[in-house]
Amino acid sequence: MKQFFSVKDIDSISSAVEEALELKANPFSEEQLGKHKTLGLVFLNPSLRTRMSTQKAAMQLGMQVMVMNLNQEGWALETQDGVVMNGSSVEHIREAAAVMGEYCDVLGLRSFPALKQVEQDYSEELFKKFQAYSKKPVVSLESATLHPLQSLADIITIMEQASKDKKPKVVLTWAPHVKPLPQAVANSFSEWMCQAQKEGLVEFVITHPDGYQLKESFTDGAVITTDQDQALSAADFVYVKNWSSYADYGQVLTDGDGWMLDEQRLKSTNQAKVMHCLPVRRDLELGADILDGSHSLVIEQAANRVCAAQLVLKRILKDL
Ligand code: CP
Repeated sequence: MKQFFSVKDIDSISSAVEEALELKANPFSEEQLGKHKTLGLVFLNPSLRTRMSTQKAAMQLGMQVMVMNLNQEGWALETQDGVVMNGSSVEHIREAAAVMGEYCDVLGLRSFPALKQVEQDYSEELFKKFQAYSKKPVVSLESATLHPLQSLADIITIMEQASKDKKPKVVLTWAPHVKPLPQAVANSFSEWMCQAQKEGLVEFVITHPDGYQLKESFTDGAVITTDQDQALSAADFVYVKNWSSYADYGQVLTDGDGWMLDEQRLKSTNQAKVMHCLPVRRDLELGADILDGSHSLVIEQAANRVCAAQLVLKRILKDL
């Protein structure tokens, strides 16, 4: 594997899940693989799970890890070409990424979208420049449009928890929030579930209010409805996530009254397990009754971030 940016970097979801679960069962089985190799984790935005799980995964592979909170601890970064740097920017991404590439064998980058200009965010220009100038394999720790390490952990969790005698119905439901959030988690989960559906692993449904359609290229094959009750009927897994509008880019179009999932709304499901990538705002995005009850899988999902990251790093290390 030369990069990990999306589901397109994985040949088969079922074999990736199987390999990740082997690593989960035997976390130190490849501890020689990363010896004398360095992973650099570069964050332009906050993180708890991605930072700690990727670091743990790398350590279990015997790697050394360096973490750089570039926005807070690095020089103010210029990402555009052709500008005279006479403002607040101090260092250009061309030099910064090239230098980090000298120090590290593999790099990870987290960079959220500005949610101002759709073309700018969806071009994934920053990720592409970072990869080009570092000249090293780059793992997305969440980019402007996708969060593949999260989605891999999500499908691992679904395959681990699903009944063996039935193809699970998986529903992605929009949830209310007070702030405009990126579409990255929803885009990515949808892209992975659509691929899992093609592999015959799941049935996939998306539900959201009017105006919250995701970009079509990420939802190919999904059933999409604005009727949340219809979507939830007989669901085995419900993935709860807020995202801001793609069509009316970056805008919050509704307060989402009636869209928050709670125990009452779960009654029409097949005793569904409930998922969320975290962090979650209790009783705004998702009912505390669910989070504190037996239907929640949020901690299991977060735990699976380790074996997901370990699978990706293992594949990259094998191809160095
Ligand atoms: N789910 C997730 O990526 O969590 P962090 O933002 O804390 O890394």
